[in-house]
Amino acid sequence: MDLHLKNKVIVVSGGALGIGQAITRCLAAEGATPVIIGKDQSDNEATVAELQNAGLQADHFVAELSDGAQCKNAIAYVSEKYGRIDGLINNAGINDGVGLESGDEARFLDSYKKNALHYYLLAHYALPDLKASKGAIVNIISKVAETGQGNTSGYAAANGARSALTREWAVELLPYDIRVNAVIVSESFTDMYRKWIASFEDGAAKKAMIESRIPFQKRMTTPGEIASMVVFLLSPVSSHTTGQLIHVDGGYVHLDRAVK
Ligand SMILES: NC(=O)c1ccc[n+]([C@@H]2O[C@H](COP(=O)([O-])OP(=O)(O)OC[C@H]3O[C@@H](n4cnc5c(N)ncnc54)[C@H](O)[C@@H]3O)[C@@H](O)[C@H]2O)c1
Repeated sequence: MDLHLKNKVIVVSGGALGIGQAITRCLAAEGATPVIIGKDQSDNEATVAELQNAGLQADHFVAELSDGAQCKNAIAYVSEKYGRIDGLINNAGINDGVGLESGDEARFLDSYKKNALHYYLLAHYALPDLKASKGAIVNIISKVAETGQGNTSGYAAANGARSALTREWAVELLPYDIRVNAVIVSESFTDMYRKWIASFEDGAAKKAMIESRIPFQKRMTTPGEIASMVVFLLSPVSSHTTGQLIHVDGGYVHLDRAVK
């Protein structure tokens, strides 16, 4: 299927590792120019080099996205260099364990900034270009907003905001033909996930327990499987899909837990 993404300029926050990196790779393979916005220069450069060495297009901008000014600079870089932005994938974030008991005002606000504020700011600053291109937005969201996890109030609140903003923007942007959708992720073994599992006394047992509860094939979702849905939703092929929150999770959130 041709996703009609050739030479489209797509911003991918956190696009150098994990789920974001899989999205960047998938976009480049479709002939688009993904522009990674991420805080780690060496990770950004490594992914760009991998793709360029394979004859594909990719670019990056180093920014710490919890800083609003850096969000603005990142979008200005893309807009000025390419003269267009055809899509935005909001993905960067961290499950930082700021709980009701373990947290405080400053840490809660910091978590919210790391996980939600830049979703708003990147969309806000990219909007003039997205209006011009009739582009699309895809937000990556954690199932924590629906299921809870415990000891992660900041991250849960931020993911609730990501869900709400998906529908809110889908409505606000109807007049501009800009579609806004989300992919909800449950369990995908990325760098972030690896660090989280390592925080348990017996991480291997915890991982095996989680996998045993994932209905479809008793395994985690690969970043590539998430990326395929994200890139499809971003593409003009999904031209009448907007305001949707799609779970790519092997049935983890919705299917009957009694099924073996
Ligand atoms: N892995 C999972 O199972 C899972 C589950 C639910 C939701 N998610 C969501 O998926 C998204 C990506 O997660 P992942 O597991 O791929 O993480 P990851 O840590 O493997 O990769 C995240 C990337 O984003 C960058 N990044 C993070 N915060 C940033 C910031 N403030 N400024 C600039 N760059 C920043 C990191 O440097 C890294 O390159 C997150 O928003 C997370 O909420 C992941």
